[in-house]
Amino acid sequence: MPIKRMWGGRFEESGSDLVNKFGASITFDQEMAQEDIQGSLAHVKMLKATKILDAADADAIIKGLETLAEKLKQGKLSFNIENEDIHMNIEALLTAEIGPVAGKLHTGRSRNDQVATDLHLYVKERLPQVITAIKQLQQVLVDKASDNVETIMPGYTHMQHAQPISYGHYLMAYFQMLQRDAERFQFNMQHTDVSPLGAAALAGTTFPIDRQLSAKYLGFSDIYHNSLDAVSDRDFVLEFLSSASILMMHLSRMCEELIYWCSYEFGYIELSDAYSTGSSIMPQKKNPDTAELIRGKTGRVYGDLMGLLTTMKGLPLAYNKDMQEDKEGVFDAVKTIIPSLKIMAGMVETLKVNQDKMEHAVHNDFSNATELADYLASKGIPFRQAHEIVGELVLKGLKTGKNLSDISLAEYQKISPLITEDVYHVLQPKVAVERRNSAGGTGFAQVEAQIKAAKELLKD
Ligand code: ARG
Repeated sequence: MPIKRMWGGRFEESGSDLVNKFGASITFDQEMAQEDIQGSLAHVKMLKATKILDAADADAIIKGLETLAEKLKQGKLSFNIENEDIHMNIEALLTAEIGPVAGKLHTGRSRNDQVATDLHLYVKERLPQVITAIKQLQQVLVDKASDNVETIMPGYTHMQHAQPISYGHYLMAYFQMLQRDAERFQFNMQHTDVSPLGAAALAGTTFPIDRQLSAKYLGFSDIYHNSLDAVSDRDFVLEFLSSASILMMHLSRMCEELIYWCSYEFGYIELSDAYSTGSSIMPQKKNPDTAELIRGKTGRVYGDLMGLLTTMKGLPLAYNKDMQEDKEGVFDAVKTIIPSLKIMAGMVETLKVNQDKMEHAVHNDFSNATELADYLASKGIPFRQAHEIVGELVLKGLKTGKNLSDISLAEYQKISPLITEDVYHVLQPKVAVERRNSAGGTGFAQVEAQIKAAKELLKD
């Protein structure tokens, strides 16, 4: 017996199992079951309000959908691959629940606006969850930064010691990146909070529907103003995936540094046991697996973005079945970024800072070379010349094993009589950090100000 499809009227043959299975999306789009029922409820309530359906029919459908919503919550709905996707599965379940009147639900609607509506609802609901998880990580960073304003570490460029910085300042750099991430997701809401429902297949409908009303029932702020655009737009998903990719890029940079810094060579931090794993062969190992995994998962989120960008490229208007491929990537990204953010927050919160190790690293290097050049410049030596002088001192120091603070005053005064005892004060890493008090610099006062502003920002 060939299976009876909801669209089967004009067909004489049913496809092979392979083709049917290939075309079905129920294995993954059941993730939007709740959204699908919600969308249908709004649609039928609108059909009732506009008297397109009579009240008795509409009420039967509403009651049936409410029953399905309840069953879904209890895990009592099961879906069938023969019904292809979540939309036709829900309709079939509704029919089983209330009989043929269920067939009236699809009046003035198509699966094309239906699936777009479901996806809008899905993303709209997850955006605040993502933003909350970002804020939680930001809070952890601010707290850690507050404890470490005066913790001195080497700042790097090219992964080479550059200038000493405050570890609190370093942490706040990630706070700022995450702030932009949160803002990007907030912006994404603008293009997500729009209802495609009622665009029907592509051209609207002859029924006197009220799209504003169904949008209102669903809590959407606006409706799409072009039915072709409504059913074929996936920009809001691409924006989500692109924001998710940038976010993961940030997390992966932070992870990369955590991985370095908990290595023997750096030893700046120690990750708590809860975020580390051991080795099955090497008993001494404590590996930063969790950080590596977040770094690794960045690749899959980029893949989600690249996948959909590529799927959408060159698609003619309006709906094409290619677009069925839009969902798994966004589900995957949501399920990757929220746990990544939560785990990152826990990992940063519980990590131990080896302040001595960090500070030791800047006492045995030349990261205070800029201090000396600035010092000479402040005494009137042109900066270019000062740079040259200090460069030569560094070269000599590297050969003799002397740091800049080890050079005697007599030796300094041979270079310039303008150099006095106070040079040793200026060369101290902590003083170097403290004095970088230009706006947004690593000076303690600047870091404190940054933390204060961040706390304000997190309040609202
Ligand atoms: N399962 C489909 C999807 O996810 C629903 C829309 C189907 N529309 C169609 N005309 N075949 O894209």
